[in-house]
Amino acid sequence: MTSLSDKLSHVVGQVFVDSELPAELGQVRVSDRPDLAQFQCNGAMAAAKLAKKNPRDIANDVVGKLQTQDVFSKVDIAGPGFINIDVTDDFLSAHLEMIRADERLGAGNSGQDQTIVLDYGGPNIAKPMHVGHLRAAIIGDSVRRIMKFAGFHTLGDVHMGDWGTHMGMIISEFIKTGDTDRILGLDLDDEAQIDALMKELGEMYPRVAGECKESETRKEEAREATVRIQNKETPYFELLQVIKAASVNGMRRNYATLGVHFDLWKGESDVHDYIAPMVEDIKANNHAVEDDGALIIPVKTEDDKKEVPPLILYKRDGGVMYGTTDMATLVEREKLYNPARVIYVVDQRQHLHFEQVFRAAKLTGIIPVGTELTHAGFGTMNGTDGKPFKTRAGGVMKLEDLIAMAEETAMKRLNEAALAEDMDADEKADVAHKVGIAAIKFADLSNPRVTDYVFDLERLTSFEGKTGPYLLYQAVRIKSLLKKAEAQGLAIPQADAFAIGDADRALALLLTEFPDAFNFALRDYMPHHLCEYAYRVASAFSSFYGNCHILSEEDEAIRNSRLALCAFTYEMLIQILELLGIEVPERM
Ligand code: ARG
Repeated sequence: MTSLSDKLSHVVGQVFVDSELPAELGQVRVSDRPDLAQFQCNGAMAAAKLAKKNPRDIANDVVGKLQTQDVFSKVDIAGPGFINIDVTDDFLSAHLEMIRADERLGAGNSGQDQTIVLDYGGPNIAKPMHVGHLRAAIIGDSVRRIMKFAGFHTLGDVHMGDWGTHMGMIISEFIKTGDTDRILGLDLDDEAQIDALMKELGEMYPRVAGECKESETRKEEAREATVRIQNKETPYFELLQVIKAASVNGMRRNYATLGVHFDLWKGESDVHDYIAPMVEDIKANNHAVEDDGALIIPVKTEDDKKEVPPLILYKRDGGVMYGTTDMATLVEREKLYNPARVIYVVDQRQHLHFEQVFRAAKLTGIIPVGTELTHAGFGTMNGTDGKPFKTRAGGVMKLEDLIAMAEETAMKRLNEAALAEDMDADEKADVAHKVGIAAIKFADLSNPRVTDYVFDLERLTSFEGKTGPYLLYQAVRIKSLLKKAEAQGLAIPQADAFAIGDADRALALLLTEFPDAFNFALRDYMPHHLCEYAYRVASAFSSFYGNCHILSEEDEAIRNSRLALCAFTYEMLIQILELLGIEVPERM
């Protein structure tokens, strides 16, 4: 299965081959002048260079051969040799029928069940989740959904930060204040006790972190505690388990609210036991060198344009680093899942870190050379002042507070537009939640992930423009039309219904472009291609709806075709929104 332009490329490519020219020159794409033609092929110019002929002569020859085929309603030449192409409505209808019946809507099975690990969580134990964790979760989960749809066997891993010095800071504090027994005695089935502990930790962490900055002694205590945790000493390790369980509870709630899924709930601590044997192997294979008491892997190459520092396995004090756990995590991932790719959806500012880890993993043979390791980085979410998003008071915005703000603004919008008038309080809250999350997610996904973007809640929650709520609104509008049709006893044809004509053509053609948008999103791990496409579909539907009769159409065949087109547009929008992780309310 392919997109319509792929299919046409095949037909036109064959004609090029018949003229002893390369098939690639017959590539057809959607026209950038829709007023002139539906599709275009620009290969005649390159072919002319190859064959040392006049491009118009080549184009003439190709057009002559294409005109005999009943796929095309028009083939002509513009300018120096651009080939303009329109397909017949019958051909378009049949193609639409085919992708509608296809479970991947024409996008094909490129995954072939290959296993992919996706790392897109990275929340840190004992610290409240904040807006910095939002982009990883939203983009990563969408990339997972996209890859799954493409036929990959996907494993999303939350990869918690549960092993670093911040744990040492907190645990040394509990030991100092004599609170060990109180913490170990907490009932982890009691939400209230968990919430109280999280609140305590939220207050404690910045304070202790501040003290560690001020005082070398305090810092040393934290460092020592970190080593003790990592050596699994009592009660250090047990304290970690309680804090971890409480934090995971909060994380699960946050991710559930966002509708973000993970298959694996692992953390840095889970791979600790891989570190020592891994380091032994690396040493035995002469990939590690001692450097001023530390153990490092040099990873720079001659072609480097920028400085790539070595990866540090052990610091001078014997402590392990962020890179060490990432290496050990790759050891585990290779052993347990043997993935074809590992994709990290993590802040762009960590790019150098991943460069080091990937090089070291390949160099040491932890990861086979053919396995793809990718850092799919993302930019910063800024406030309307252009600086990283903060609370009004200038602090770090907690994730739950941000979500609550979005829901509140969504509710205000629903009320303004009188969209929830006949709903009871529960339904209204549910719709406000879906609209709020759609606003956040669409805003986050619709920019190319590497760029920074401005989070402006007023704009993102608008029902007009390129926003999540606009897409929900259009989807719900189609749904209500379909319900109305059924209420009037009009069945929605499931197959053999399309009879595309003038008023339907633009929408129908656009629906055939799904595989193109999808495959761009898949190739670059960039969901914004799908956002852009979804917006175009929603807008095209809006024009279609405004311009032609659907329920009131007298001609039964046309009415059926239009109902099927509406139903397919709805299915398409719902499918894309699902790939973006956006849920659609029944009505609004
Ligand atoms: N916990 C890290 C942070 O807060 C992110 C982890 C990303 N994943 C990874 N495998 N390094 O920055």
